[in-house]
Amino acid sequence: MRTIVVGGQYGDEGKGKILSHLALADKPEIVARGGVGPNAGHEVNYNGKKYPLRLVPCGFVYEKAKLMIGAGVFVNPEIFFKEIELIGGQNRTFIDFRAGLITKEHIERDTASENSKKIGTTKTGCGPAVSDRVNRIGRMVSEVPELKKYLIDVPKAVNSSQNVLIEGTQAFMLSNLYGTYPFVTSKDVSASTIAADVGLGPTKIDDVIMVIKSYTTRVGAGPLQGELSVEDAKSRNMQEYGTVTGRPRRTSPDLHFDDLRTAAMINGAGQIAITKIDIRFPGNMGVRDYQKLTNEAKAFVSDVEKKLGVPVTLIGTGPDALDVIDRRIRN
Ligand code: GTP
Ligand code: IMP
Ligand code: MG
Repeated sequence: MRTIVVGGQYGDEGKGKILSHLALADKPEIVARGGVGPNAGHEVNYNGKKYPLRLVPCGFVYEKAKLMIGAGVFVNPEIFFKEIELIGGQNRTFIDFRAGLITKEHIERDTASENSKKIGTTKTGCGPAVSDRVNRIGRMVSEVPELKKYLIDVPKAVNSSQNVLIEGTQAFMLSNLYGTYPFVTSKDVSASTIAADVGLGPTKIDDVIMVIKSYTTRVGAGPLQGELSVEDAKSRNMQEYGTVTGRPRRTSPDLHFDDLRTAAMINGAGQIAITKIDIRFPGNMGVRDYQKLTNEAKAFVSDVEKKLGVPVTLIGTGPDALDVIDRRIRN
């Protein structure tokens, strides 16, 4: 199987946790990451340890997987070296030799620009690095001697393996094409682009899992229907803080079904994963068997399936990689 995992809302749906579960359950030969770059923050909780990751794939928890960063991803070498050390992945982590580089100057531009301030970017230099690449003046990972030994041909690897987990970052509503433009990130991040980022053609993808959280959060500027005050979000235990920037996330207790239907359609979602069901419906923390969910939580899952017309096959019930109900039908 080659499966792509994408976010269906504004990011921070808990993709990191779903990806870590999938890696442990499916034992992929390769976990490959697409998306923009270190503007992403995925948090993996495994064996009592927290791993905040911005570049390296979350599927690292399966120790036999080779970890790859696709050509479409922009790399900050400092972050890359820190993360391979954190996960002990020096011998199994690779970058496509065509990937673009993020420099200090990109970060300075992202920090100083008035437009970046208006959008509320992550100030990680991703936008300026993408724009330089579009203008054909981008810097490349191949210019950095310390990275040389990690550079490979990712498309060759992922096309020659039958068991690949592909990690999308950001999320549909932040897509430069389909999101709430101009309050978006600097690339499209729907499943088709994630496939292209790692060098897989559309006929080579078996499935797309779209991850949604049981409520909605957003960091940075832009519209958010049904936004709660910080006090209200706190009283519902829904107040979150960003993995990359530490900024408080904005919260809406609702799922925005019109947006989610569009997201499911354009991503070609074959399955939905819902996270944080235990936060929306207390009493479900750590449940790993569907039958043990409360009736309220089960009704919510059925309602999502009915409204989106896509089966909910994975349900997150707690922070640990193993706190998941997995209802996938596998051969
Ligand atoms: P992505 O950017 O989508 O990877 O998500 P993220 O890692 O930024 O998500 P977030 O920061 O919101 O998630 C961080 C914390 O939520 C981590 O500690 C996760 O383990 C935890 N988490 C993920 N899924 C669940 C869940 O179903 N229930 C609970 N209680 N926590 C979860
Ligand atoms: P940029 O991608 O840093 O240019 O930021 C553009 C917008 O996308 C800002 O609102 C960011 O907060 C948001 N953003 C970018 N990446 C992520 C992510 O991984 N999770 C959540 N929001 C993100
Ligand atoms: Mg995140």
